[in-house]
Amino acid sequence: MSSSPNSFSRRKVILDCDVGIDDAVALALLVQSEKIQLLAVTTNTGNVSIEKTTRNALDVLSLLNAQSIPVAKGVARPAFTILLENYSKIHGLNGIGEVELPASEQLVDQRHAVEVFAELLEEEPAKSISIAVVGPLTNFAMFMKSYPDLVNKIDRLIVMGGTTSNGNITPVSEFNIWADPFSAKYVFDNVSCPTSMVGLDVTRLATVNEEELARWSRNSEWGSTIARMVRGYLDINSNGWPMHDALAVSILIDGSILACENARIRVHTDGDDNYARTYCDFETEAESSGPQISVALGVDLQKFNALLTELM
Ligand code: RIB
Ligand code: CA
Repeated sequence: MSSSPNSFSRRKVILDCDVGIDDAVALALLVQSEKIQLLAVTTNTGNVSIEKTTRNALDVLSLLNAQSIPVAKGVARPAFTILLENYSKIHGLNGIGEVELPASEQLVDQRHAVEVFAELLEEEPAKSISIAVVGPLTNFAMFMKSYPDLVNKIDRLIVMGGTTSNGNITPVSEFNIWADPFSAKYVFDNVSCPTSMVGLDVTRLATVNEEELARWSRNSEWGSTIARMVRGYLDINSNGWPMHDALAVSILIDGSILACENARIRVHTDGDDNYARTYCDFETEAESSGPQISVALGVDLQKFNALLTELM
């Protein structure tokens, strides 16, 4: 077994999430990978309420024996939109497929998620921390507005969200964007650090099936528990359950898993049929039109599955 990289060579990551079943798989990859140092987990309302997503984040980290990683709550409600509790029910009423986890003894960090982003970015050298947002962009938009000078200290922002084709909550919009399109618009119009959008074009292809879940179950107790969560996941297609968030964070472990093109992303916020659509303009290069975002269009499923085999 190769000697594991010391903490200095690990990629430092903050995960902002709405745990959620695929969020839990993303957490497992980040905790298990020797290439990642997960500095903190922050939460918001998305799949379920912030109270439940925070509880789930604490308990999943405990399941992964990673209770030392701080968990901080963020903004409780999306900016300017109403997100009904359990709107989607796709993750179950408790957010993790009705699986009951032993309650973690870890207390929620007293800081607000935005303060955690700011403190870690102020403490660490520039370009040494990446942030992955796998829920609505409410916290990150609030951070950008609160600490604009710290945004360009971020090495890379990974957003699980959006689509250049069909949506999953409306015909044209993806859930994380739809849950808070105003925050998403602010981020994609103003972000000043390298940013990747990992949307449904690739994440809906990154599925796991019952054979893969059985392998997780044989490998570890925590793997068996997360497999039970996935079986309770109502987002399923003919190939299995799509691991949206797990694929998004995988790019931090192996950048070659996804093939990306730059685009200017315009988020629609008018209340029409295009509401919460992420219109990706791959043609306009001019900086004046706004930030160029790296949009994931292709995925190496063999590499993604190899990563799951290595870590789950
Ligand atoms: O559309 C998929 C996204 O919505 C994922 O982040 C999933 O967890 C849900 O939040
Ligand atoms: Ca999520």
